[in-house]
Amino acid sequence: MSPAILVTGGAGYVGSHTVMTLLERSDNSEYEIVVVDNLTNAYRSDGEKKPEPLKRIEEMTGKNIHFYDIDIRDKEGLNRIFSSHNIECVIHFAALKAVGESVEKPLEYYQANISGTCTLFEAMRKYGVYKLVYSSSCTVYGEPEKLPLDEAHPTGRGLTSPYGKSKYFCEEIMKDLCRSDPKWMIISLRYFNPVGAHKSGRIGEDPSGLPNNLMPFISQVAVGRLKELLVFGNDYPTIDGTGVRDYIHVQDLAEGHVKAIKLFKQTEFSGFHAVNLGTGTGYSVLQMISAFEKASGKKIPYKIVARRAGDIAANYADVSLAHRLLGWRATRTLDDMCRDTWAWQRANPAGFRS
Ligand SMILES: NC(=O)c1ccc[n+]([C@@H]2O[C@H](COP(=O)([O-])OP(=O)(O)OC[C@H]3O[C@@H](n4cnc5c(N)ncnc54)[C@H](O)[C@@H]3O)[C@@H](O)[C@H]2O)c1
Repeated sequence: MSPAILVTGGAGYVGSHTVMTLLERSDNSEYEIVVVDNLTNAYRSDGEKKPEPLKRIEEMTGKNIHFYDIDIRDKEGLNRIFSSHNIECVIHFAALKAVGESVEKPLEYYQANISGTCTLFEAMRKYGVYKLVYSSSCTVYGEPEKLPLDEAHPTGRGLTSPYGKSKYFCEEIMKDLCRSDPKWMIISLRYFNPVGAHKSGRIGEDPSGLPNNLMPFISQVAVGRLKELLVFGNDYPTIDGTGVRDYIHVQDLAEGHVKAIKLFKQTEFSGFHAVNLGTGTGYSVLQMISAFEKASGKKIPYKIVARRAGDIAANYADVSLAHRLLGWRATRTLDDMCRDTWAWQRANPAGFRS
């Protein structure tokens, strides 16, 4: 059997772009791609076997993706997958990710994100698979004590949402796993704010309901799906009073995962490593609006409303460890992020249902 990479949540936003990147690069051609996704946040047309993003990736690359509509909490389902493929490593994206919703539904979030992750780790251990890339988040840092945020910044302090806590708890679990057995090799990638879409415009971010994140909100206003953008607060101590974030192109992020997998080939590599993936530069909400207006030629009407509970003024990453450890740096600019988001949204005004 050919070696395989198991991608949980591979039909979602970051997962699908990572699958695309893995298949696009000929140096990964030795790997089969196996995706497990329960489709809670991914779209499959009626009567189709595979979710729409994976179908489109197969069309673009001419390569096959093994797909399982299985929940990561389904022990038997995972056993079937691990016994049918020669899985060498796992990239674990599957999780619920809406910060606000997690405050309303903490049990659902802890179930999916923590119990699900433990069930996956049990299956990995049972089948002797110890290489893992985990989707973590800059939310684990809480309110920054200093900027830019480097990986030595304390984590887990003052976290306000069950979502953020679930990412922090999973990191603690992974550290314990690595202490318990030196066979584990775990890279926890702490994403800053993924935006953008594949340059083809055929896959991109397709949130269901009202977008939680800025970029899909802006692009849905631009395409006429939403009337106006809500800007939460303009009295932060930032360049123009609006919140500042480190936005990173999803293609750069996807390439970070490919670099992480390459590290597993180094014989001396082991243990738990947390690595920031961002650009190192922060942009305010108003700067993002203006960049998007330039890229799309559309006016983005917006309204300033009260701050959102739990939001912080600014965060951006120190990305030097990613460069040292993974040999990775983000190369795409804010203009690239806006151009590619717009190309995706314009071609797919209703997302994958278009
Ligand atoms: N997008 C962001 O802004 C961001 C930022 C930081 C971290 N992350 C993390 O990156 C990962 C991917 O995020 P995304 O933006 O691609 O989200 P997404 O919702 O688009 O993708 C997650 C995928 O996982 C699937 N899924 C959810 N629960 C599952 C379960 N129990 N079993 C099987 N599949 C399940 C969903 O159907 C979805 O396709 C998540 O772990 C998220 O927490 C995302």
